[in-house]
Amino acid sequence: MPAVPPSVDRPGGRLVVLGGGVIGWSVAWRAALAGWSVDVVDSRPGRGSSWVAGGMLAPLTEGHPGEEALLELGSESLRRWPSFAGDLEAAAGQPCGLSAEGTVVVGLDSGDRAELARTVEYLIAQGRCVEILDDDEVHRLEPGLAPTLTSGLSISQERSVDNRALLAALRSATYRAGVRTVERAVAGLDDALVGDADQVVVAAGIGSPELLGASWSGAGALLVRPVKGEILRLRHRSGAIPVPRHTIRALVHGRSVYLVPRSDGVVVGATQHEAGTDTTVTVGGVRDLLADAAAVLPGLAEFELVEHAAGLRPTSPDGVPFIGRLDDRVVLATGHGRNGVLLAPLTADAVVAELAGTPVAAAKPADPWRFS
Ligand code: GLY
Repeated sequence: MPAVPPSVDRPGGRLVVLGGGVIGWSVAWRAALAGWSVDVVDSRPGRGSSWVAGGMLAPLTEGHPGEEALLELGSESLRRWPSFAGDLEAAAGQPCGLSAEGTVVVGLDSGDRAELARTVEYLIAQGRCVEILDDDEVHRLEPGLAPTLTSGLSISQERSVDNRALLAALRSATYRAGVRTVERAVAGLDDALVGDADQVVVAAGIGSPELLGASWSGAGALLVRPVKGEILRLRHRSGAIPVPRHTIRALVHGRSVYLVPRSDGVVVGATQHEAGTDTTVTVGGVRDLLADAAAVLPGLAEFELVEHAAGLRPTSPDGVPFIGRLDDRVVLATGHGRNGVLLAPLTADAVVAELAGTPVAAAKPADPWRFS
């Protein structure tokens, strides 16, 4: 791809997006289509937490009692995913790796199954649709599941996306829309690159509080903190069981594990630790992920372990991101925690609407000032 993007007529003003991950590029792409002249600035575009992510589009199975606002935001964004992906693929000229298969949920021991029963009760109380599966049904959906798993849940409306295909598609679509991606660090909002922008979107994940500095005391984005997640990538080998079709989530003696299919294997995730900005992949993390994944899908033992990595989820105090205006020049799109990929379509729509002065009602729970 040439360094300078094609020249496109720009009726809007100049917009700088700080952060070149799934959120920053989704915002940049949609804003360019709306007429903004956009620069995305990131020291390692496409290589932050979006690169490590599993790519589940799973608001129900990521849902927990007390997080109803997040459940609603996630469900709204999931509804937007098919058209977002269709538009993106047309604009990028390449696939973004959206899978239409839902999630199968299983529990290994009686305590795990009791926990799943509580999850079902909770989701039904929230008006969500969950199908309970018996032994035959669960193994018909996923024949590789361990024979000891004799029941499960199907959540067919959930989806997944290949995060790396998505990043590549976003990079191509932004480029074709005339967005310039500048590979460099930014110290703060008075940086020379940002100085003459008409509008600035802060989508810098865990770097957002430092970029904002102390100027916005009271804005919740200053409370974004890193939550480390270790993840593995396993590649299918000839003779091994087929790659599962669905995302599989499991509780294994109280510990949560997920397997997200890719065309050539699975992503296994993820640990969850508050360890500052440490991204070391630990022996214990890899051991637990492999043991739990193999307890659910024993045939994975024949796959090749090709990658281990850790990402830092930019996490807000209530799990809900910060999407909205800070002042007349700065808009936030950060703090997406475990749900950055899922929430990209809604976030992009909400930010572009905010830039046009017409905030989206669905994004109201993500008000950046809700803690002040
Ligand atoms: N959304 C999955 C994770 O954060 O691990």
